[in-house]
Amino acid sequence: MTQANLHIFSTNEQTAEALALQLYTMAVEKQKLKQQLFIAISGGSTPNLLFAILVNKYQKIMPWGVFRFYWVDERCVPIGDTESNYGTAKALLFDYIALSETQIERIRGENNPADEAVRYAQLINNQLPKKDGIPTFDLIVLGMGDDGHTASIFPNQQDIMQSRKLCEPSEHPITGQKRITLTLKTICNSKHIVLLVTGSSKAKKLVELVHLSPASANYPVTKILDTKGALDYYFDKEAAQLLNY
Ligand code: 6PG
Repeated sequence: MTQANLHIFSTNEQTAEALALQLYTMAVEKQKLKQQLFIAISGGSTPNLLFAILVNKYQKIMPWGVFRFYWVDERCVPIGDTESNYGTAKALLFDYIALSETQIERIRGENNPADEAVRYAQLINNQLPKKDGIPTFDLIVLGMGDDGHTASIFPNQQDIMQSRKLCEPSEHPITGQKRITLTLKTICNSKHIVLLVTGSSKAKKLVELVHLSPASANYPVTKILDTKGALDYYFDKEAAQLLNY
């Protein structure tokens, strides 16, 4: 079990600013090394502020050419649907930066979930560098739901949590929305994970995660502590309000 580096910021803006700076630092390093930055981003609303900061402050200075964008998960909806993780990232970020088509590999939510999980697993297996024979991202940005899920791996989804595949179809336990998600096997093989959590609605689960309450053992988000790479927690004060730090 790894030790997470905890970063707590006063506001959600400062949290997103710090992550944007982390991305910039990583991208400049990759540019110097003439390497690509393989990054997988999550959906939900939390990353939206990060997208806005990347456009407003880094649009002209970020070495965008090093980026290879992938997704942690996707909802099985058309791109134009407000629920689409890719559609949101396109509207808030990709429409404002010059990327070639090969730099963006979305999960095709419009496809049959099981087929798309196979397609995406093959795609990342073919395109990414490997660590221990498994595709390894340079950075995975994860969120956390207030039920302790991460990616689209929800509590009690033992099959997905223990999957030896790279990608699996999933389903939201309340809405029944079909999803496709990277598995913990893929996520925990990343060189670096950032867990980005903001807002008071996450505070109760976050204190359980950080202090490893008995119940937290069942939260998918807790499993990221098994990662082989670096793990950073980026929280704003609202989300971290119950932590005794
Ligand atoms: C998704 C995400 C999911 C998200 C959490 C937090 O597609 O919904 O990948 O894991 O990170 O549900 O969502 P919010 O950022 O909206 O709170």
